[in-house]
Amino acid sequence: MDIVEAIGTRKSIRGYKPDPVTKEILRDIVDIATRAPSSMNTQPWELTIITGEVLDNIKRSNIEMLMSGTMPNPDMPSEAFEGVYRQRQVDLAVQLFQLMGIAREDKEKRAEWMQRGFRFFDAPAAIILSVDRSLHEWWPLFDIGSISQTICLAALNYGLGTCIEGQGVMYPEVVRKYTGMPESKRIIICIAIGYPDWDFPANKVESKREPVESITTWCGFD
Ligand SMILES: Cc1cc2nc3c(=O)[nH]c(=O)nc-3n(C[C@H](O)[C@H](O)[C@H](O)COP(=O)(O)O)c2cc1C
Repeated sequence: MDIVEAIGTRKSIRGYKPDPVTKEILRDIVDIATRAPSSMNTQPWELTIITGEVLDNIKRSNIEMLMSGTMPNPDMPSEAFEGVYRQRQVDLAVQLFQLMGIAREDKEKRAEWMQRGFRFFDAPAAIILSVDRSLHEWWPLFDIGSISQTICLAALNYGLGTCIEGQGVMYPEVVRKYTGMPESKRIIICIAIGYPDWDFPANKVESKREPVESITTWCGFD
């Protein structure tokens, strides 16, 4: 696949076929993605790749925590967005809810939608990205972003879909319990990965982007 086509084709996949993804394919994708750039080639990323019983246990425990009202305590706290950022977040949610037929006031369906995220969108595999806590809090985040997008692009080559997601690792204690990941590692994000179910309505989402003009400042051109 042409690189520009790949960048344009990638989108977040929130519904997957149950078909498993082999360890060989996941290994190939990670091998390709390690070509991602990192600050001074520090390659701070550490990947915990989960499937089968381990993933099932994390999915189940995440939901139990959510249902019990336990406050998420992620290693990477998210912020409440305001202004234009909040608006973009709302625009996406409106699009997804429309596609899924979820009415604004339908608390039950909204809760079920939220649970999907905590279940890794029922993907058959997931990649958890972490960094050693001895590293600075900020710089490795750039590098994790860099390898995350590279993983998502490389996955397309194998017919796989992905969704970078914070929801799956909102309860780091659950991830640690079932993967054995020590406290010395900061869990940054995870990526759900699997074969897309193209009949799943939310996969039809076309998230919007700001036009180039509104995000660029050109200096020194005519
Ligand atoms: C750091 C990060 C965290 C994200 N967390 C979630 C999440 O928890 N749940 C979700 O549904 N999507 C999540 N996403 C996906 C974004 O919503 C998505 O990338 C954005 O809407 C653009 O859509 P696209 O990926 O389809 O182009 C996350 C993306 C990033 C980069």
